[in-house]
Amino acid sequence: MDNNKIIIFDTTLRDGEQSPGASMNTAEKLQIALQLERLGVDVMEAGFAAASPGDFDAVNQIAKQASSIRVCSLARAVERDIKAAGEALAPAKFKRIHTFIATSPIHMEYKLKMKPDEVVRRAVEAVKFAKTFCEDVEFSCEDAGRSDIVFMKEICEAVIQAGAKTINLPDTVGYRLPTELALMVSEMVKFIDGRAVLSVHNHNDLGLATANSLACILAGARQVECTINGIGERAGNAALEEIVMAIKTRKDIFAPLYTDIIAKEIYPSSRLIANITGIEPQPNKAIVGKNAFAHESGIHQDGVLKHKETYEIISAESIGLEKNSLVLGKHSGRHAFKDKLAHLGFSLDENALNTAFDKFKELADKKKEVFDDDIRALVAEEITRIPQAYEIVGLLQSSAGGLASASMSINFNDKVVSDSALGNGTADAIFKVIDRISGIGGVLKDYKVTAVSQGKDALAKVDVKVEFEGSHAVMGHGLDIDTMMASAKAYIGALNSHLRIKQL
Ligand code: KIV
Ligand code: ZN
Repeated sequence: MDNNKIIIFDTTLRDGEQSPGASMNTAEKLQIALQLERLGVDVMEAGFAAASPGDFDAVNQIAKQASSIRVCSLARAVERDIKAAGEALAPAKFKRIHTFIATSPIHMEYKLKMKPDEVVRRAVEAVKFAKTFCEDVEFSCEDAGRSDIVFMKEICEAVIQAGAKTINLPDTVGYRLPTELALMVSEMVKFIDGRAVLSVHNHNDLGLATANSLACILAGARQVECTINGIGERAGNAALEEIVMAIKTRKDIFAPLYTDIIAKEIYPSSRLIANITGIEPQPNKAIVGKNAFAHESGIHQDGVLKHKETYEIISAESIGLEKNSLVLGKHSGRHAFKDKLAHLGFSLDENALNTAFDKFKELADKKKEVFDDDIRALVAEEITRIPQAYEIVGLLQSSAGGLASASMSINFNDKVVSDSALGNGTADAIFKVIDRISGIGGVLKDYKVTAVSQGKDALAKVDVKVEFEGSHAVMGHGLDIDTMMASAKAYIGALNSHLRIKQL
């Protein structure tokens, strides 16, 4: 094991998916998994197999398709979870079970209602049971940031003896400062003394997740757990792109430490996750935000024109963001389109390529210039499409004097059904008519419209979150030049996801 290598453990598909509104279906997770493989992450936490049949299926599908990456499933320290993780991961070439139990006094007393001795016993049993499914087992002391270090040494010693190969110390509630975590990590590294890899997992509640992860690396941690765009529970997790680019840019501090991440895949990964989850990074987000490479003030622009490094510490190209990329239009042919896809990192089979090309042509007919972000959104929609039980055939809408109406024709089981509804605004009327036709009432929890690229004729992307039949909210995404059609597509998409989850 190379002690200078920092293992990048990506948890976008597990902790990232715990972001409010980020739930994804299996097809979407699979696309992200394949992109994470291109990005070069070492371990990918594909989900929490025991959480639901949908989560099990996603971990299992990823385990079947990943070729070079280590696929991991989270499991609480209980037999049922570990068994589900082991079974879902069975087809993986390289696999890991990640089991955890809380070790802080507050979690043990109020959440687990267990004495510390029982927590140790459960942790040891969990690791031993996980070892019956795979050799590579990671153990986490949940809420390590607020745990007593003497107790953590005791439990870590016990799980290492039971066979854990990685010990992860999460700052679960994002409470600690870099100096505090560095002290904890250096003491634990000394204690573990090379018998396991020491990992950290930092949350961003005080905006310190990246700084904390970097301090931990300098103190001896050799695995960091992180997510693309920093998505995750509450304020999110440490952002993969920030950690990786800090190590790469500040070689004067970090060398000889390194990661195996392919930096040029950072921007494509960021866009794919934003397109799929509907969670856009804030514009001023480091590395991947819309403004991360924009120079607005005259003084800065003048400096950059004279010598880039006056105001730029990283080049946009180094993370795979090409500013002067070729724009396609309605005269661009299949060949140019295929080249563009390859350039953007998509490899589609013949069928998907044909459909994507038809969609591109349709778009180029309506829109003068088709930008890279339009193509990314269009292809992401195509490759993550699940079988559509309900499909829109036609939509007619009108609005006058504050009252809106929508008439729709929808295909279901090869039968086209048409109906109309009135609503408080066009979107409301559209959602109501879909409810009427399907006979399944939905409660809209979130609705967001974004312009995919620039210009008055920009493609609209609508993201909705809907609760059908009182079950868990599902996401739906719709893309169209017409915002109302995009809204209808998003709502129908959510309905189709709901039905698919019900079938599992
Ligand atoms: O934040 C946390 O403690 C976690 C663990 C389950 C690893 O996500
Ligand atoms: Zn976490």
